[in-house]
Amino acid sequence: MFSLTAKTALVTGAATGLGQAIAAALAEAGAAVAVSDKPGASLAETMALCASRGPAGMEVEMDVRDLRQISEGVAAVESRWGAVDILVNNARINRPMPGIDVDRENWDDHFNTNVRGGFFCARAVAPNMIRRGFGRIVFISSQSGLVGIPGQPVYCASKGAIVNLVRSLGVEWAKWGITVNSVAPTFVETNLTRKRLQDSAFRSFVLGKIPRGRLATPEEVASAVVYLASNEASMVNCANLPVDGGWTAW
Ligand SMILES: NC(=O)c1ccc[n+]([C@@H]2O[C@H](COP(=O)([O-])OP(=O)(O)OC[C@H]3O[C@@H](n4cnc5c(N)ncnc54)[C@H](O)[C@@H]3O)[C@@H](O)[C@H]2O)c1
Repeated sequence: MFSLTAKTALVTGAATGLGQAIAAALAEAGAAVAVSDKPGASLAETMALCASRGPAGMEVEMDVRDLRQISEGVAAVESRWGAVDILVNNARINRPMPGIDVDRENWDDHFNTNVRGGFFCARAVAPNMIRRGFGRIVFISSQSGLVGIPGQPVYCASKGAIVNLVRSLGVEWAKWGITVNSVAPTFVETNLTRKRLQDSAFRSFVLGKIPRGRLATPEEVASAVVYLASNEASMVNCANLPVDGGWTAW
């Protein structure tokens, strides 16, 4: 079960953190994985990890704020492998700022990366998926798309937008064999969260909200993505799958 042999995948924001773990898990399940990130980000570690677990991958430089880079990146994967079967929209920024301080730049940065970037990556892979009658698109949303978290209203809004974008695209594209879903992790220790989680008051707040009593691991998030990308999830569409130890249930 959950084999992705002979499938191709494209993962955005794959240089570090969850993107790296997701790329490695897809490779381990048998997919050839195109790992992408902003120009200048090193993808060597992720490439090596994928190669040690599964088929050879490829690197794609792609800043998801730049629509031209998105179409060129997707075209590069399609010309090498013929298709992108699985797209994982993982790239994001999170620059926490209380609502009262938010400026236009903070708003635009979040929405241009997290929402617009993900949408146009999906838009770019869709025509070929439609032609082939198969596609799996998985966004990484967040528990922050389901509940409000103090100090990061714009990030929460951007992740909430993803939850409903997934529903809408999934409804439109299901007739072409494409499923569109998202995975909503709770806090995972990665480059961007590590510093905040060192603050003991913030860490206690977070752990107090998670009935499982601990943070999620990158591998737990990656497993949910592999499931949604698999044939076994063929009837799962428009869903937002929490990997949050129960945070959003109460
Ligand atoms: N870490 C957590 O606690 C947590 C919780 C819930 C959801 N998430 C979500 O999981 C995903 C990964 O989070 P992470 O913690 O690994 O983040 P991270 O910051 O460690 O990694 C994000 C990656 O995205 C890349 N990126 C940023 N802007 C980009 C752009 N414009 N174009 C291309 N790539 C870009 C970065 O270079 C980086 O490699 C995100 O969508 C995030 O919102 C994370």
